[in-house]
Amino acid sequence: MSANTDSLFTATDINGVSLGNRLAVAPMTRVSANEGGTATETMARYYERFAGGGFGLVVTEGIYTDKAFAQGYFHQPGITDEEQAQAWRPVVDAVHRHGTRFFAQLMHAGAISQGNRFRNATVGPSAVQPKGQQMEFYRGKGAYPMPAAMTEGQIADAVEGFAASAARAVSAGFDGIEIHGANGYLIDQFLTDYANRRDDRWGGDTRRRTTFVRAVFEAVRARVGAAVPVGVRISQGKVNDFTHKWAGGDQDAEAIFGALAEAGASYIHVTEHKVWEPAFEGGRDSLVALARRYAPHVPLIANGGVQDAARAQEVMAAGADIVALGKAALANPDFPNRIRAEQEVSAFDPAILGPIANIKPSELAA
Ligand SMILES: Cc1cc2nc3c(=O)[nH]c(=O)nc-3n(C[C@H](O)[C@H](O)[C@H](O)COP(=O)(O)O)c2cc1C
Repeated sequence: MSANTDSLFTATDINGVSLGNRLAVAPMTRVSANEGGTATETMARYYERFAGGGFGLVVTEGIYTDKAFAQGYFHQPGITDEEQAQAWRPVVDAVHRHGTRFFAQLMHAGAISQGNRFRNATVGPSAVQPKGQQMEFYRGKGAYPMPAAMTEGQIADAVEGFAASAARAVSAGFDGIEIHGANGYLIDQFLTDYANRRDDRWGGDTRRRTTFVRAVFEAVRARVGAAVPVGVRISQGKVNDFTHKWAGGDQDAEAIFGALAEAGASYIHVTEHKVWEPAFEGGRDSLVALARRYAPHVPLIANGGVQDAARAQEVMAAGADIVALGKAALANPDFPNRIRAEQEVSAFDPAILGPIANIKPSELAA
């Protein structure tokens, strides 16, 4: 007898935007845009497969937000001008043909940019060399360079980049905005004790380190208005520091999730390696449970390590409203349809992402 998976297929909504079910595709950078950052036909076909496969929500890969320091990777898509915004239109239309919602993830790479056609140098909250190594599957190599500490003017420009990009995303037809506050990129650098050494209003204790994400959120909200879902993605781990944990444990979770709830985030998207596991060593609560506790009324998307329906349901039982799949969606672009039809799901094959993480023809085959 098969398990009952009905709870994954109930409708819900985020800030008044309805979703047909609880399964989302997690944001995944696939470096398949033109060199100039415009989205391509290949990307439209790639994203449409998830929609046709039954996902209620698809979140785009991280899209860069300005022509200064935001771009992280060569062939990453941007949304910094009308041309780039219009290039997203056919991608949005392809996803919408299936009744799936499509949110744009807005990203500024900050100190871990490893491919920016507008600048040769990087910036971050402070002049602290990032941990880790550049990612070769995104065409990088070796250590990250030392970033310059951002000036007030550069911080204002970065905030404005998010706001203007959000407005362009809405006019291109996206149903919502996800601010990328996770995984080691600029917003997460501001949140992180060792990357943010500032002693001005952008730095200090955990609450003060949330100043930048709150500024970005408020600027985006002011620009797109109240009707558009604007969420924030949050993690402890980073692409350049996988095992990072918030030093303040529960108290940091309260400061960060509480700040987002207070700011009026339409949703919070938490991601961890295995999102159901305790967030802190020796603790009991997962990041899902902590986000639920400290942002009790904010819709919650959970991501990380979920590969089957039973685990997705367990994560929902822990407090998530929506479960986002990354690698399992790459392996099964029709994951929701397979679950509903009680079919087996395929295991993820990392070969898809090598040697470069771009979209492969095999992914687009019928
Ligand atoms: C190829 C690839 C690209 C990714 N790019 C992004 C990204 O652009 N933005 C983001 O927030 N997370 C990105 N991630 C992280 C995923 O959204 C997700 O958090 C991670 O894969 C863990 O979830 P999973 O176990 O379901 O795959 C990426 C992951 C992969 C595998």
